[in-house]
Amino acid sequence: MPNMRSAGNTRRSIFLRRRVSKVRFTSIQQHMLLARRPECWTCKADPRRTSTEAATIPLAGITAAIGLYQRLRLPLPWQATTKPLPLIVYGASSAVGSYAIQLACLSNIHPIIAIAGRAASHVESLIDKNKGDTIVDYRKGDEAVVSGIKAALKQNGLSTVEHAFDAVSEKGSYQNICQVLDPHGAITVVLPGKKYEEIPETVTQSLTACASVFVDVDPQSPEGKAGVRTGSKEFGYLFYRFFARGLQQGWFKGHPHEVVPGGLNGVETGLRNLKEGKASAVKYVFRIADTSGVSRESAL
Ligand SMILES: NC(=O)c1ccc[n+]([C@@H]2O[C@H](COP(=O)([O-])OP(=O)(O)OC[C@H]3O[C@@H](n4cnc5c(N)ncnc54)[C@H](OP(=O)(O)O)[C@@H]3O)[C@@H](O)[C@H]2O)c1
Repeated sequence: MPNMRSAGNTRRSIFLRRRVSKVRFTSIQQHMLLARRPECWTCKADPRRTSTEAATIPLAGITAAIGLYQRLRLPLPWQATTKPLPLIVYGASSAVGSYAIQLACLSNIHPIIAIAGRAASHVESLIDKNKGDTIVDYRKGDEAVVSGIKAALKQNGLSTVEHAFDAVSEKGSYQNICQVLDPHGAITVVLPGKKYEEIPETVTQSLTACASVFVDVDPQSPEGKAGVRTGSKEFGYLFYRFFARGLQQGWFKGHPHEVVPGGLNGVETGLRNLKEGKASAVKYVFRIADTSGVSRESAL
């Protein structure tokens, strides 16, 4: 197994797409899986979709869901809003950003102001321009991003935006956001271990971490002290089923992806591409069964 820790603090865990054998009425079923020992969440993937597409969902999809609903507390898809509710999604073509847009659309959250670059055409396929959604190109520089967001708000007759999902959380992203975000708005970021000092104190700041779906309600937290017993774990349990239903019914889809040749031996190539910023609206998928020396039976 290659040493994934060397990839840096943003990718501490190994999230694998595996075939989970579950003998039930003598059939073997395909599942999506997110694991952090000793626990894991699984849900059945739609057999009509590829398992490699399903593999793009568990980590980035749940990160998007936690950010939107647990952290920013935006309306859930089954309680969709009917009023304009502007949202900035910075890093819109990333897997996390793209799932955030898919979910925001299910919640009828618009206008979405999507910050993207090379993969603008992918983002176009997710947003709804008829509902005021816009793309702002980050490659034109910080000033252009800030004025682009302001112009997008103005175009929609809005003077302020109160919610931002920062799926980049570096390269000036949250600094740009904070130049337009309502001083009493909310931003969620995705990179742990940073101070985010430039975010004003009046703004509600939160860290979105996918691993929170494995954490029980802390008895010492305000919720725990108030007797609340269910939280992010149950949210994770429900959302994996929600994703599976969306795949089956066609209202949710995986991120564009590439299967890297060589199975686990291709991990280094994938990590190098990520480090060099080559990944543009693409998730790299590694099929364990493609690894030389691994028999298909032991990989399944
Ligand atoms: N906290 C957690 O639990 C958690 C979980 C998952 C991921 N993450 C973190 O979330 C981030 C996103 O992860 P991911 O897997 O979704 O990433 P990804 O798909 O690999 O992101 C690649 C995308 O980032 C976009 N991008 C790069 N620089 C940008 C900038 N300055 N402004 C706007 N977009 C930019 C690129 O856009 P273009 O191609 O359009 O130029 C590209 O499509 C990563 O930092 C990751 O470590 C955190």
